[in-house]
Amino acid sequence: MTKPMYKRIMLKLSGESLSGEKGYGIDFDVVNRISSEIKELVDMGIEVGAVVGGGNIWRGRNGGEMDRTTADYMGMLATCINAMALQDSLESMGVVTRVQTAIEMREIAEPFIRRKAMRHLEKGRVVIFASGTGNPYFSTDTAAALRAAEIEADVILLAKKIDGVYDSDPNINKNAKKYDKLTFQEVLEKDLKVMDSTATSLCKDNNIPIIVFALDEVGNIKKALCGEKIGTIVGN
Ligand code: GTP
Repeated sequence: MTKPMYKRIMLKLSGESLSGEKGYGIDFDVVNRISSEIKELVDMGIEVGAVVGGGNIWRGRNGGEMDRTTADYMGMLATCINAMALQDSLESMGVVTRVQTAIEMREIAEPFIRRKAMRHLEKGRVVIFASGTGNPYFSTDTAAALRAAEIEADVILLAKKIDGVYDSDPNINKNAKKYDKLTFQEVLEKDLKVMDSTATSLCKDNNIPIIVFALDEVGNIKKALCGEKIGTIVGN
């Protein structure tokens, strides 16, 4: 078996990635497939942290009319629903998990405590970080970057619907070119929208590489971690 290149990873799953073809809510066939891929990583001895988005349940500000902070808090609650779905799916496969939430809701999950998260990871438990950063105006990409820095992850795996970063939208431009490698500076200068600029800057400043890849190709997570050329790598 190929040896993984990374010991501790942060997996960022968008909310949409959990809804599959439906485009809304949670498709448990999809969640179970993602879980079985995560299980493979855990079985290889990789320590896995995960941040999930909430866009499959709640997206944005209802046409811009809502108060931004209220809309963002609703999004954070949506990430908790997704985190619990992922936890349930992983545990049904025998993977030990802990959900930690940035907003305290003690009856539902343990609060985010960095040192506890580190301990869980060392013990081989998958730690799912819910409620984003716990603050409005920050995306779940930024939560992934922040938690990755805090838990000293070696890499962020950014699972997307498309298989990497392109110079223009491949759904619109048939000649769009995919990048194999990019620097954070290039992402910021070219405004490539890999992550939002807050998340990108956080990764740049803390020197955490990102691998952007498509989640719907089975086995991609493992391939990316074993150094196969999957998607786009962004680093300093
Ligand atoms: P160790 O310290 O390594 O034994 O970790 P542990 O997570 O097994 O210990 P702990 O006693 O902290 O947790 C036992 C169970 O309770 C785990 O499933 C935790 O996720 C859960 N748990 C811990 N703290 C909280 C909390 O504040 N709220 C909720 N809902 N669950 C919690």
